[in-house]
Amino acid sequence: MRAVLATGINPDDPLAGLSVADHPEPQPANGWITVSVKAAALNHHDLWTLRGIGIREDRLPIVLGCDAAGVDEDGNEVIVHAVIGNPDWHGAESLDPGRTLLSEQYDGTLAERVAVPRYNLIPKPAALSWMESACLPTAWLTAYRMLLGASDVQPGGTILVQGASGGVATALIAIGRAAGYRMWVTGRSDEKRQRALELGAAAVFEPGARLPERVDAVMETVGEATWAHSLRAVRPGGTVVVSGATTGDAPSAELRRVFFLQLRVIGSTMGTKDELVRLVRFLEQTGVRPVIDTVLPLEEARAGFARMAAGENHGKIVFTL
Ligand SMILES: NC(=O)c1ccc[n+]([C@@H]2O[C@H](COP(=O)([O-])OP(=O)(O)OC[C@H]3O[C@@H](n4cnc5c(N)ncnc54)[C@H](OP(=O)(O)O)[C@@H]3O)[C@@H](O)[C@H]2O)c1
Repeated sequence: MRAVLATGINPDDPLAGLSVADHPEPQPANGWITVSVKAAALNHHDLWTLRGIGIREDRLPIVLGCDAAGVDEDGNEVIVHAVIGNPDWHGAESLDPGRTLLSEQYDGTLAERVAVPRYNLIPKPAALSWMESACLPTAWLTAYRMLLGASDVQPGGTILVQGASGGVATALIAIGRAAGYRMWVTGRSDEKRQRALELGAAAVFEPGARLPERVDAVMETVGEATWAHSLRAVRPGGTVVVSGATTGDAPSAELRRVFFLQLRVIGSTMGTKDELVRLVRFLEQTGVRPVIDTVLPLEEARAGFARMAAGENHGKIVFTL
């Protein structure tokens, strides 16, 4: 089958280790099932893999991709939950120390077919297209949990999103607007800020700008470039929810500010299968749909990777089969 593979690791030039090539068919283990992929979405996670973050070189070549929607062996239209749990783990699904994402240990979704545990399938809703459905399992699920689970802010509160155009950022803006939050957004260009306003942001700002007032919570995925601003933007007792560190993961911690203002810094990663089901229902009920930047045939995946690596995407990049 055709697949998008990481064949090498290069921290400075991630596309050097990317190839679209033939790859052996998946061999589902006991309790696993094969899904014929209709659409699969790209995430920054795939660039991290090519840079050597979160993967061992001896696992290569590996099929990239966390997100997919498709048809399983029994003919069901499904969305694939990307978090593979340890079957022996008893406890909160998101705290399973043995959990792994598709494309870390097991082949991922950027392929004609992918094998996953049967547990990881949820029904694809009729109201969402294949492409929209494929956007949900990573960026949209992460945004849903950050905002509606981890932030602990009630609707009506003010939320700052660092970054305007990314997959997680666009999901945060759209979900937050529909859920009744006042969404404030920083973006690196006029065009990105304008698109955020069109998506539902109540106000937009240049990175690092002084805000009219402090916010209840900040949604942080940018990391080093925005961390200091995030800590200054949040009100005393407010929350910074962090799920990514695109620009680096070692900013000054500013511990005095954290304890003196009694800030909560909450880490958040992906979400549970139940949260993915609720996210789907949220989209059905609100009419909100994922922002899709570009749709490409899987065979042309390299162009999508290059677009994300250059920071040119506004929303999700989706590959179709
Ligand atoms: N923990 C988890 O479960 C989880 C899940 C999903 C994603 N993530 C992480 O979250 C991050 C975003 O993922 P994504 O898929 O949304 O990536 P993406 O689509 O490539 O988006 C990148 C985002 O980062 C912002 N950005 C990049 N460089 C910046 C800089 N120098 N200054 C300010 N903003 C900058 C961009 O803001 P502009 O709009 O201003 O360009 C954009 O919003 C990645 O690091 C990813 O690994 C983590």
